[in-house]
Amino acid sequence: MKIGLFTDPHYKGVNGDVRLHKESLEKIKRVLSIFKAEGCALAICLGDIIDTESKHKLEIENLKRVKEAFDASGLEICALMGNHDGFCFTPDEFYSVLGEEYRPKTIHCGDKTLIFADANFFKSGARYAPGDTNWTDSFLPDLDRIRKEIDASLGACYIFMHQNVDPELLESHRIANDAEFREMIEDTGKVVAVIQGHFHDGARSTHSGIDYITVGAMCEHELPYFILEI
Ligand SMILES: [Fe+2]
Repeated sequence: MKIGLFTDPHYKGVNGDVRLHKESLEKIKRVLSIFKAEGCALAICLGDIIDTESKHKLEIENLKRVKEAFDASGLEICALMGNHDGFCFTPDEFYSVLGEEYRPKTIHCGDKTLIFADANFFKSGARYAPGDTNWTDSFLPDLDRIRKEIDASLGACYIFMHQNVDPELLESHRIANDAEFREMIEDTGKVVAVIQGHFHDGARSTHSGIDYITVGAMCEHELPYFILEI
């Protein structure tokens, strides 16, 4: 099974100097058509779909345009929220605009399990709220739930999240409990890879037999994507 991954479109109406926000809508359409042509059974956006506008009304309109691109793709899609999505929307508002069908849920493919993690929390344990987020302060509160899902899985597990747990990346990008998370997944012996966004340059490393794949940001690169074969 092939899974197409992209991340960090940061879509909004005006380009920045480095982040080409406006171009991202067309790039989302292009990448989804590539995934379709490649025979991907699933596409995953690893977060930061949109970016902040001067008015919330514009953020809603932008997210609706992304929804139209998703709906037109003919692909099954999971879309994680990143810190920028969390700055603009609560999870319930985000998925009510984008479509509940795009809210990530654990997927079982044969004996393999795809698990989605939400680290849009401060290390205090409080969830990010609209207007109240911090890209350098993230935390994954539900390690117990993830451990249970891995333990219950029949075979290999793959974990998808926006923020980083690759130990080679800067501490500012990593969740506050990244060491505890890595220790937990290593202990299960079942996790093959963790796939992430957030660090816009992208990265790749392997530790204790687990691949840490960070996909480059769509808003800063021509057309970054990754196809995972499981
Ligand atoms: Fe981002």
